[in-house]
Amino acid sequence: MALKLGDTVPDFTANSTEGPIEFYKYIEGSWAILFSHPNDFTPVCTTELGAVGNFLPEFEKRGVKVIALSCNDVESHKGWIGDIESYTPGSKVGFPIVADPTRELAVKYGMLDPDEIDSKGIPLTARAVFIIGPDRKLKLSILYPATTGRNFHEVLRVIDSLQLTANFSVATPVNWNLGDKCMVIPSLSNEAATLKFPKGFETVEVPSGRSYIRLTPQPNLD
Ligand code: BEZ
Repeated sequence: MALKLGDTVPDFTANSTEGPIEFYKYIEGSWAILFSHPNDFTPVCTTELGAVGNFLPEFEKRGVKVIALSCNDVESHKGWIGDIESYTPGSKVGFPIVADPTRELAVKYGMLDPDEIDSKGIPLTARAVFIIGPDRKLKLSILYPATTGRNFHEVLRVIDSLQLTANFSVATPVNWNLGDKCMVIPSLSNEAATLKFPKGFETVEVPSGRSYIRLTPQPNLD
């Protein structure tokens, strides 16, 4: 069964490149990203893990624990890290890569891709991204096939949106980035919005005459 937004994500214990991991303990009270890879020593995965190594300070700045998973054992993961760091200059894989050689976790989290199989004909994991809130609930998931590498700028962007909208009555529009104007959520009346947003909001006129597009400066900036 695939995880749905709002579900409490399953706990697990597993070996990783940083020793045994108890997932709930590891993410305790933090935002977290769990992302999967089809296989060790594969080209696209090597680029992705290198990029995440370089972005680690950005995840830390946002209070997000990072954890990767691939369907191989710890020895294989450890052997691969040298290649990842050599391919991406400056990158350090300073986060655990969980071993899932039996696919137990991949099944638990609904990560398997029936189109990608290993030499024994067993499905590999797709490129799943799970962003988990401090309440252990799934806030966002993205699923890419093995042949399409992820954009981790986009992953950081959605984390910024998730963390902002968890705390303020705003939504973020298309291509939003930190510092851009936000939208007042439709369920908030104009009166309530006036109280909530001291910097005010503007209502955009549209041909329908409806007043549903309301813009406000990002509320947590000075
Ligand atoms: C890769 O990471 O390059 C990859 C893995 C599995 C299938 C296709 C590409």
